[in-house]
Amino acid sequence: MAMQDPRFLLETSPRQNLHARFAQDVLRGLSAAPKRIPSVYFYDSIGSELFEKICTLPEYYITRTEKAILETHIHDIARFQNGSDLSLVEFGSGSSYKTRLLIQAFLQQQGHLTYRPIDISDSILREGARRLLNDFPALRVHALAAEYDDGIRKIQQANVSPKILVFLGSNIGNFEPPQAVDFLNKMRHIMQPRDLLLLGTDMVKPRHILEPAYDDAQQVTAQFNLNLLRRINRELGGDFDLSRFRHRAFFNETESRIEMHIESIGQQQAHIAALDRTFAFRAGETIHTENSYKFTPDMLQSIFAAAGLKRLQHWQDADGYFRLNLLGPA
Ligand code: AVI
Repeated sequence: MAMQDPRFLLETSPRQNLHARFAQDVLRGLSAAPKRIPSVYFYDSIGSELFEKICTLPEYYITRTEKAILETHIHDIARFQNGSDLSLVEFGSGSSYKTRLLIQAFLQQQGHLTYRPIDISDSILREGARRLLNDFPALRVHALAAEYDDGIRKIQQANVSPKILVFLGSNIGNFEPPQAVDFLNKMRHIMQPRDLLLLGTDMVKPRHILEPAYDDAQQVTAQFNLNLLRRINRELGGDFDLSRFRHRAFFNETESRIEMHIESIGQQQAHIAALDRTFAFRAGETIHTENSYKFTPDMLQSIFAAAGLKRLQHWQDADGYFRLNLLGPA
């Protein structure tokens, strides 16, 4: 079994006071006007599973479009390996579903490969590794259950080079633009001159495509969003009545982002025991839970320049819905 497999190693970065941080962020966010809760808290084990389900929804074009781009251009991408013996480091790997194309291509070229997936959920990492190790005998998986910043520190400490860093799924779109620059800048700082960064970015497109992707007919995204209140009930002793809140998602064109909110149906209160506080909600008041930025080529250009990165190549689908950008240090 993969878990006793000598090719598999799982490190867990000690997450200090995760519970205390969650409590603090909920207190700060629900005391603010407008109310907000950071989207990182979506990903408890239930949220991570719901997200995996979102990736298979017909309306959620991101996963399949990015996968199709990878499939079409995998040999072009792998060509940039340039004779070096790369390690593959993936941030926010999830179940590594799309990454197997890259793994296969690099294995073909190099004969062996160390894959270093970094994700907040150790159960998803274990499951992903088990499947990959079954399929690829020459693969080693050195997984890290950690948040992105810890992951960057670990890769720096381990002095992993040469490498290709991979950040797929437009995860970068969940950062505010200054934080996106900051994060890419941190990535650039752990890159040697010939290291690569493969970055998936979701592009601006018509509202009638964007909005259903975040408000699907099966209501999986609604469950994913409302799971935040469930998590507060479970972990912080909240008494949110989930039947009195609803999921909202819309494209904010001015800000170039999908916004997700949890909207209060009617006037109500919720008590959170761990905070010893009661929060009041007006009818229609929302908790802003996520931004998912949609990029234009110009936005990308200025983000990459500000982060000290240069684009070596990009690939996209025929509709221009999604882009894979291959970057190097400027
Ligand atoms: C993880 N991230 C890129 C997803 C997105 O599309 O912004 C999260 C998500 N939220 C709702 N659906 C998917």
